[in-house]
Amino acid sequence: MKVVVSIGGSVLAPEPGADRVRAHAAEVTELLEDGCRVGAVVGGGGVAREYIGAARNLGANEIELDQLGIDVTRLNARLLITALGEDTVTAPARDYETAGEALRSGDVCVMGGVAPAQTTDAVGAALAEYVDADLLVYATSVPGVYSADPNEDDDATKYAELTGKELVDVIAGLEMNAGSSAPVDLLAAKIIQRSGMRTIVLDGTDPSRIGRAVRYGEHDGTDVIPDGAGAEPTYWASDER
Ligand code: UTP
Repeated sequence: MKVVVSIGGSVLAPEPGADRVRAHAAEVTELLEDGCRVGAVVGGGGVAREYIGAARNLGANEIELDQLGIDVTRLNARLLITALGEDTVTAPARDYETAGEALRSGDVCVMGGVAPAQTTDAVGAALAEYVDADLLVYATSVPGVYSADPNEDDDATKYAELTGKELVDVIAGLEMNAGSSAPVDLLAAKIIQRSGMRTIVLDGTDPSRIGRAVRYGEHDGTDVIPDGAGAEPTYWASDER
């Protein structure tokens, strides 16, 4: 099977350090050894926010801030590339075609951000759509998609299952509440909806959870199941990966 894993910066590198990156790379390598083709998209996390905060105080405009954020996502992507060693490309892909070529040639393709005014959530969804992935997994620092921000609202409940349209509606509602942070952004949700991409949003701080979700569909997060999708996908029902 073909899978795109979007790893939040706060999951992979809350601060630059080797252990978490090594653990995530080991999980990706195991999936590769199982016969999966893997695309990885890496976010900027707290480090990106620190740089963006400093540059904002220096008077940078929003596009300049986004460019800075993209640079940090690419630094994190380079950390993952370093940990993956021979199994991957030498540098983060800057566009989907380059990433797709790497995937076709059997490498793990790794991307950070690509263009201002979005986040790597959207890059993950677009890459999954571009390479016709079977599955898109968001490894975030929250346990799934909630009805409200669980840090702000005690009544917030986690969705076990959503359709693409329901995901768009939930995320649009969350984004209207200033300060509340959605686990994926609205552009990503819209790409997921239009592509009918089977998607999982889970707490990826322990990378083995990503592997279990990819191999067996088992997780405690949120399943986004396209309208009209039948029973479980064949790659979970059989030995085919
Ligand atoms: P992230 O994807 O890490 O943003 O990119 P985020 O969702 O705010 O971070 P988490 O998930 O909460 O940790 C970091 C920043 O890089 C810029 C944006 O400014 C984003 O906030 N960026 C990233 C882009 O402008 N374009 C991209 O394609 C990716």
